Amino acid sequence: MLCRETTMWQLVLMIAGLALVWAYTRWARVKRFWAELGVPHLRAHPLYGSLDFLHHENPAVWMRRLYDRKSPYTGIWLFWRPALIINSPEIARRVLVKDSDYFRDRFLGTGTTKGDPIGGLSLVLANDPLWSSLRRHVTPVFTSAKLKGMHTLNLVKSKELVQRIDRELAQKKDIEIRSVYSDFTTDITSIFGFGVDSNATLTGEGLMRTITLNFMEYDLFRSFSWYSIFFFPTLVNIFRFKLFPRHTTRYFKKMFRSLLAQRGGYAGTEHHDLFGALLKMKHQADLKGEAMDENLVLAQALTFVQAGFDTSAVMLTYITYELAFQPEIQDKLYNELLEARQRNDGNDLDGNILSELTYMNCVINEALRKYPAMGWLDRLASKDYQIDENLTVPAGMPVYVNVVGMHYDPEYFPDPDNFDPDRFLPEREQNIKPFTFMPFGQGPRNCIGTRYAY
Ligand code: HEM
Repeated sequence: MLCRETTMWQLVLMIAGLALVWAYTRWARVKRFWAELGVPHLRAHPLYGSLDFLHHENPAVWMRRLYDRKSPYTGIWLFWRPALIINSPEIARRVLVKDSDYFRDRFLGTGTTKGDPIGGLSLVLANDPLWSSLRRHVTPVFTSAKLKGMHTLNLVKSKELVQRIDRELAQKKDIEIRSVYSDFTTDITSIFGFGVDSNATLTGEGLMRTITLNFMEYDLFRSFSWYSIFFFPTLVNIFRFKLFPRHTTRYFKKMFRSLLAQRGGYAGTEHHDLFGALLKMKHQADLKGEAMDENLVLAQALTFVQAGFDTSAVMLTYITYELAFQPEIQDKLYNELLEARQRNDGNDLDGNILSELTYMNCVINEALRKYPAMGWLDRLASKDYQIDENLTVPAGMPVYVNVVGMHYDPEYFPDPDNFDPDRFLPEREQNIKPFTFMPFGQGPRNCIGTRYAY
């Protein structure tokens, strides 16, 4: 008996020893990767590679730390997987636009449809050819005419926002401004997307607001889910992590079914909002006899709510924050709005007039520069790609364009920590080097909601 136990322990020790030797040899090879290519690189940790920000630092701050003005690119490791950070606007232009055929996919969420059958189909995570087809179907929702049609709604909701702030001030409440803005952007997004008015701007709650509040929940499990989706998508399939929290998806599905019934099913009356475009996409596939999973429709609906409401609410929050510190900028902006209103015979300003307000757009752009929603633009090389005479990126390598690094590079934006909207005045904006200001990304995979967000 004793002898059999000893043999078993010997076997376990032997397997553990072999595993250690394998891990060590593999790690030694991984660690040499960038040095052998002669690429400037960071030190790699044997457990998390270059991801030393995990759980204690904002990823955009980490990305800023990685930015190296002296080198057009830097090699990093996502755990043990080599990836490349692009610091040069010229290379960014080639990766994002000129040679974007090599970089149509994101590494983010790659191949996660098994573990996350809804989130994995989202436009943000989908890879080609699914991505191209989805993008083609939803692009018409964002035409100028459709966006103009939003004007009355925006106005109503903006007035409600003012009422809400007035009311809370009168009640001498502290105003949690990010949450109030999220109520507002939830209403705008859900009316534009689905024709559903949650009335959250006035009340702080509602059908769709329940969903967007769920999106904002963050705990250890959600953080593991996010980090895996971003940097280790293989884990998504193993641990069944989800882009959208499970309970949110369940709740949204019920709402989705009832909206679908109200519209007479997939073949019902045509509506010109996002939901209408998604229903049409499924209906057309049904007519052609192509099996289109309902999850594909659900995923896009959830994606637009998630991608739209928080990014815009955060931007509004940062603008308010900066204006609070710089009353002279606030006054200048306020005067520009007052003058525009006077020129418009005291009437409310529509989208056309607003888009021509030079200073207001400078304020928005400066906030987008200082606080970009995405610190980097993530792409995956589909084929070997020659970056320059020294470096060819192998197929399957993640590539990150360091947007936040460039937004804070004093060569492109002098005194970058200073909130200075004047740098976007037309006479100065023309000096901004192309591909150094990319708050909405660039190229075919840029933000589909850019004009809508403005
Ligand atoms: C201030 C507001 C916003 C900012 C700063 C922002 C920023 C971004 C960025 C940086 C990307 C990645 C682009 C790239 O990889 O080149 C992106 C993608 C995306 N955004 Fe936005 N966004 C905003 C608002 C919105 C809105 C309002 C919507 C929808 C209603 C939206 C929907 C999307 C979608 C669906 C994608 C993925 C596009 C694709 O992969 O084809 N975003 N956004």
